[in-house]
Amino acid sequence: MAAAEAPSVPGISRREFLYYVWAASIALYTGEFLALIIWYAIPIIREGEFGSVIPVNPDRLPPVNDAPTNFSEGRFWLVNLDTTSSEGVERMYRASDEASPIQGVAAIYKVCTHLGCIYSWNAATNRFECPCHGSKYRLDGRRIQSPAPRSLDRFGVTLVYADGSETAAETDDGGFFLPVVIDESKTLAEIRVDTGDRADGPITTLLSEVVPA
Ligand code: FES
Repeated sequence: MAAAEAPSVPGISRREFLYYVWAASIALYTGEFLALIIWYAIPIIREGEFGSVIPVNPDRLPPVNDAPTNFSEGRFWLVNLDTTSSEGVERMYRASDEASPIQGVAAIYKVCTHLGCIYSWNAATNRFECPCHGSKYRLDGRRIQSPAPRSLDRFGVTLVYADGSETAAETDDGGFFLPVVIDESKTLAEIRVDTGDRADGPITTLLSEVVPA
C-alpha cells in the first residue's frame, strides 16, 4: 500500500509544509510548558484561608487562662496563657518540671497529634480532649494523657501594635513556637497567625505523670 503523501497546498512546497507543521508542534508544546509554569507560580491559597496569614482582631483574644477561642476557618485555637496569674488555674497551671512561667499568646493547630482526629475543648473538664482514642491536652497544648505521641502543634504568631511595631513568636531549641508576651505598654492592633508555618509539638512528659508545681 502506498505511503500517505503530505497534502499539496498551492504556493507551498512539501518541504515547507512539513516545516510549518513541525514549527507549530514546537510552539504548541512550548505554550503548554509555559502555561504549566505560570499555573504553579500563581499562589492558590487566598488571603484569610487556611495556609495563609490570618489576621485576628484583638477583641477575639480570650482573657488570660480563659477557654480558647475557636477559629474554624484557620483550623486553630487562640489561647492567652499566664501561669503566674491566679485566674483560671483550673485550665492553665504550672507543672513541677516547668522551670519558667508560661506566658503569652499562642495559636494551636486543631488536629490531634496521634492519628489526626479533630479534638475539641471540653468546658466541663477544662482541657482539650480527642474523641477518637482519648488523648487529652492542657490549655497550652501540652499532653496530659496519651496515646498522643507529642503535644499539640502551633502556628507562628505575630503581635502587631498600633505604633507599627511587631513582636513575632520565638522558638525553643527544638523549633517549637513559644507564646508571644503582650507588651502592655502598647495598644495591640492585630494578631497575625501564619497557618502556613506550623511547628510540631514537643515530646514532653505526660502531665498525668507530673505533679503540679
Ligand atoms: S487521633 Fe486523637 S487520640 Fe487518636
